[in-house]
Amino acid sequence: MKTEVYENYIALSEAVSDKIIETVKENPTAVLCLATGKTPVLAYELLVKKAASRKVSFSNCMFIQLDEWIGISPQTEGSCYDTLNRQLFKPLGISATQIILFNALTGNEDEECMKMNEAIKNLDGIDLMLVGVGKNGHIGFNEPGTDFGIGTHVSALQPATIESGLNKFPGVAITGKGFTLGLKNVLDAKLLLVAANGEAKADIIQQGMKGDITTDVPLSVVRRHANAIVMLDEEAASLLQ
Ligand code: GLP
Repeated sequence: MKTEVYENYIALSEAVSDKIIETVKENPTAVLCLATGKTPVLAYELLVKKAASRKVSFSNCMFIQLDEWIGISPQTEGSCYDTLNRQLFKPLGISATQIILFNALTGNEDEECMKMNEAIKNLDGIDLMLVGVGKNGHIGFNEPGTDFGIGTHVSALQPATIESGLNKFPGVAITGKGFTLGLKNVLDAKLLLVAANGEAKADIIQQGMKGDITTDVPLSVVRRHANAIVMLDEEAASLLQ
């Protein structure tokens, strides 16, 4: 694992978008797994512009969904799918056949997790995974306490995560559960990018990078990844020295 610190959010976003573009330029059939959340919003905006200006096509890539709110339809504004669809899939012209989604309305959650693990295996793994970091150190929906060895699973969301869902989906019933790729999937990604910005993340970044490697802080698992880059702006990195 290595750490890269950028002056500010813009520089961080430039670097994140460059790394994704470089990966796809080298490997036009790359399998990508990209997070939602506030952190990567600008990186995705830049990515769309750079894909056009540098003539890098994403039309032969595959996209694996990182996580999704169980019970929320993909069409619901703010679902993980809807977010990526608006920020990336539509602007890049990605077709439905290139996207492997959780069926968040399924009656058989175990089968859905199995299907996702199978799909990743059949695609020969994830070439590039980009994740953000929750304030409690979660990655995807891997909340504190999640075993490092677990693959795709149903996560029992913590109160703070549920609350963010309630804000995101006003008037919609939140099940308190989410589908997520597991920390095993995170460790298996061939290239793992972890991005965080802002001083609100400084404390958890310090715990994850300098504290014990522990399931209490899911982020700490990235230190076990041989090809991970933790990409921070100066504010998120401010407690690291
Ligand atoms: C959310 C998502 C994660 C995201 C993280 C950080 O709960 N499940 O995929 O990376 O929290 O979000 P943000 O970038 O908005 O801080």
